[in-house]
Parts: sequence; C-alpha cells; structure tokens
Amino acid sequence: MTFPVLAGVAWPYANALLHVGNLAGAYLPADIFIRYQRMKGRRALMVSGSDAHGTPILVRALDEGRSPEEVYLRFHQRFLDLWEKVGITFDLYTSTHTANHRRVSQTLFKALYDNGYLFVQKELQWYSPTFGFLPDRFVEGTCYICGYEGARGDQCDKCGNLLDATKLINPRSRVDGSVPELRETEHFYFDLPKLQKDLEAWLETKQEAWRPLVVRQSLGVLRSEGLKPRPITRDLEWGIPVPLPGWEHKVMYVWFEAVIGYLSATIEWAGLQGDPQAWHEWWYNPEARTYYFIGKDNIPFHALMWPAQLMAAGERFGELWEGLSGHTLNLPYDVPANAFLNLEGQKISGSRNWAVWCLDFLERYDPDPLRYYLTVIMPESRDTDWDWADFLRRNNDELVATWGNLVHRVLSFTAKHWEGRVPHPGEASPEDRALLALVEQGFEKVGNHLERVQLRAGLMEAMHLAGEVNRYLERRAPWHLVKQGKKDEAATVMFTAIQAINRLKILLAPYLPFTAEALHRMLGFDKPLFGSMYRQVVEDDWGRREVLRYDAASETARWKPQDVPPGQPLGEIKPLVRKLDPGIVEEERARLHQQLT
Ligand code: MF3
Ligand code: ZN
Repeated sequence: MTFPVLAGVAWPYANALLHVGNLAGAYLPADIFIRYQRMKGRRALMVSGSDAHGTPILVRALDEGRSPEEVYLRFHQRFLDLWEKVGITFDLYTSTHTANHRRVSQTLFKALYDNGYLFVQKELQWYSPTFGFLPDRFVEGTCYICGYEGARGDQCDKCGNLLDATKLINPRSRVDGSVPELRETEHFYFDLPKLQKDLEAWLETKQEAWRPLVVRQSLGVLRSEGLKPRPITRDLEWGIPVPLPGWEHKVMYVWFEAVIGYLSATIEWAGLQGDPQAWHEWWYNPEARTYYFIGKDNIPFHALMWPAQLMAAGERFGELWEGLSGHTLNLPYDVPANAFLNLEGQKISGSRNWAVWCLDFLERYDPDPLRYYLTVIMPESRDTDWDWADFLRRNNDELVATWGNLVHRVLSFTAKHWEGRVPHPGEASPEDRALLALVEQGFEKVGNHLERVQLRAGLMEAMHLAGEVNRYLERRAPWHLVKQGKKDEAATVMFTAIQAINRLKILLAPYLPFTAEALHRMLGFDKPLFGSMYRQVVEDDWGRREVLRYDAASETARWKPQDVPPGQPLGEIKPLVRKLDPGIVEEERARLHQQLT
C-alpha cells in the first residue's frame, strides 16, 4: 500500500545540548521509521527544527547576558552537527525563528480567530517588580495536583499535568528567586471546551491503535477533567507577534506556535524544492499519515492541543493562506511517544550534568553502536535505563559477535578462496534455499514491526535472523568443505551466505545506516544506499541561518531482497563494528561522577 507519510519530530529548545535520552525519545525512532518508509518507496518526509522562542531560551540568554537570538543560533548549529554525525535524515531541519514560520503561525492564529475559537480575557499574572510579567516558565513552585515541589508554571514534570500558573503553591521567580505578585493583564484564550466533543470522538477512534501511554494522557484527561480555555498569548518581546492591531507587543505562547512548525516546515520544504504547493500532499490528502515522534512530556501538546488547533482552523487556513477553499488540515495519524530513558538508575538531569551528551559520546564512539544500543533500550512502553556495562555487552556480545563477525568471516573467507569475488554457485541444497527463504521472511516480519513503530521488536527480529545465518555457517562449515576438496559446494555455501548478508544489510539499514553503507561497499556496490545530508544557507527579514536537508532522490536502498551477482568483485574488507575494551565501563562511570555538578 502506498500513501504519503510525514514524520514530525519534537522541536528541541535551542537552549541546551541533547543527551542520549532526547535522542532515544524522538529523533532516533523518527529516523529509523522514515528511512524504512523511504525504502518502501512511499512519499516520506521528515521535518523539525530548533524551537527558538519561549522562556527556556530567554532564561538561558538572561543567565549568559546574551541575546536570545545568539543563544538559539549557537545551539541550532550544534543540533545540525549532531544530526549529521548520527545520521538523522531530516528532509528539512529548520527553526521557528523564520519569516515563513511567522507567516504560517499568524495565518493559523487568524483562522482560529475568524472561526470564533479565540476570546480575550483579562487575567491575573505573576509580576516581578524587577522583570515585569513573568511567563509560565519563569515561575516555579509546588504542583497543586501532585505536590511536586519543582513544578513549572505551565506543566508539572512529575504528574505530567498542564497547570494554571496562578494556582502554583509557594511561587518563586526563576529570574532572581524573588516572590512574585499577581497583576492584571489581557490575553487571547483558546476556547478548547468548544472542541471537547470532537476531540473525544476523534481520540476514541485511536484508542486501540495508539500506545497506552498516549491514550491515557489524552483521552484520559478529556474524560476526567475535560478541557479548559487556555491563554495563548504572552507579555514578551521574543517570539511571534500576535497578528492583530493593538496586539503587536505581545507574542504567541511558545507551545501554540511551535507545534505549527510541523506545518510551516513542510511548507518551507516545498518552497525550497521549488514546488510551493507540494506540502498539500501531506496536509490535505486524506490518505496521508502524519506521525509525531515525541517524548512523553510532550503528549498533551501533540495529542490534544495541536489536533484542537487543526480542527479549529478548519478550512479557514487554506482560504487565508492561498485563497484555496474546501480543504481541512490532516489530524495526527499516530503519536508514538516514548517514555523516559534513565541513566545508571537515576533520572537524567541536564542541570546536574547527570547525562551522556550525544556529541561528547560521538567523540569516543561510532554512531551505529549508539543507534543500536538506544534502539535495544528504547523506552517504547515504559521508562528504561542506560547502563554502561549493558552498553558494552550489547556492543561486544550482540552487535560485534552476531553481526560484525558474521560479515567479517564471510567476506574474508570468500576473498581469500575466490580471489576477492562473489563465487559462482552450484545447485542450491534444500538447506541453502531454506536459509534464504527464512531471511526473506524478514522483509515482512521486520517490516510489520516498523509499520507499527515497534522499533525494538523489529531490530530483535533482524538480529535473530543474523543468528540464523551464523548457525547455518556452523552447520555447513565451508572451511571444512574447502579442506576436503569440495570447493564447489563451499562456493554455493558462501554464495548463499553473501546473499543472506546482503538481505540483512537492508533489514538493518534503517537502524544501522553507517554500517549498512560500509557493508554495501564491501560487497562491491558503488552507488550508495542512502542519499547525503547537506546544509543550505537561507535568509529572510529575521536573519541568516543554516538549515539541514536530505537528498532523498539519490537513495538506492529498497525494502526488498536483491542479489549480489556472482563474479562481482568485493570492495576493501574492514571490520564493521569495533569491539570495545571492558575498561570503558569504569572510565565512563568515573566520567559521569566527575562531571556531576
Ligand atoms: N521544545 C519542546 C521541548 O523541547 C518541544 C516542542 S515540540 C513542538 O520539549 F512541536 F511543539 F515544537
Ligand atoms: Zn504534579
């Protein structure tokens, strides 16, 4: 079946580096999924960007005495470095601080306004005599729902609930720790109760298919508390100006605006492709499937707020955007949120520096072992744990022992006895045929897991098949056959093993793209499997910045069995994955404790 697929990936706040928990939560699963979709030949697109606005960036800018713009651009560059190094193939990775995103966000805001989903209300807000009105994240206090003491004004990280900041117990200002007072201001509210029924009916159609974690935090919330109106503007200068006369000095609430990025990035991508309407394929075609890859703390914003914004925009967005009527924007098809990754038994904390930082990790290790381990421990249904001893074991006893060594054994033995070429096989025995049939079933089995975003299970299945190829080799023992002078039979075995490895290369490619590419060359192919990532400078009235793109058109990888022709010369044979020294476990643990603040 073919249908357009869009993967939207949580837009990281450009105020801190990304750790392995962030990568496992959203970016890696999205990349595995979208690589598979492209290999299936679907019109697949993956977009995201740096979340440049909002108080997290302001807090950082304040601490550093720099402008928010400088802060966001600095981290944006580091994010681009990371995506390239770890192979997160965004068709477009942009940012929210662009003229395009501003225009799309303002248009969506106006659509909601025109459709009667916005109203103005005076409200009380925390005000600091030294700073002015304190946005949600600038206030911290005790959660009035669960009693957690470190709750932020907008959300409690302990119980996951969205909060009413004015109800926080023992509020304090994040800027200077002072106790704020409540003062009156005026804001636009999103009339969410108007959408309660439609949202509930829509989410009910999803409750079987979506992850329980996501259903609980969306349908569960609707059925218990129900939705209340939420303010979607703020008294700040940094952000997207509210597009109505007299409101120019207020900006949109960062969450209201950032989720619109999925739409604006698709539109920006279409423009960069030179086909400005190409985005319709994912947003107007009802066959399209839009997936949102996020961590569990983002669930309410993607499974409730964003769908509500899309519903409320109705046909009005298209009318305002390009005078096109009769089209509504697609609602999320799935929101495969992940739970959290802990580190050595403790919650990851950027501020305490209890974290494995991705770029730092990649200074010492290769990307595919990281992708492998993070997939194995991916928190798809509950919180999981990064443990350095486990990392070592998974690398050495699984990735190297089952996959790397298999490839090395087969290719070096072949190179040695058949002059560096794929042998011409004799007639395949039933056992040879059975092996290839088994491995070929992997396209369906691993594929079914990938279709359902069960990435761990898909990888386990592929590794299981690699184990089967190892057992086949042990049984057929081609090294004995050669010694016994049965070189023809050995040629058939090696030919079969090479075909099996070539199939496994594809089954593993979404997970381990770097080693798949290296193996592809060792097997003697010259066109790369995947396209390349590249940077492009873009400029508008909000400045100049780099975006990251992916050249999907030059991809040759296809999700189907393909043969390596007999006689094909092999490339240079090198170890696929490095075996790691057991000493790294203690080194890395010591490093963690040393860096702790
Ligand atoms: N910036 C948010 C975070 O890091 C995620 C925003 S996702 C978006 O938690 F879609 F709203 F942009
Ligand atoms: Zn709470």
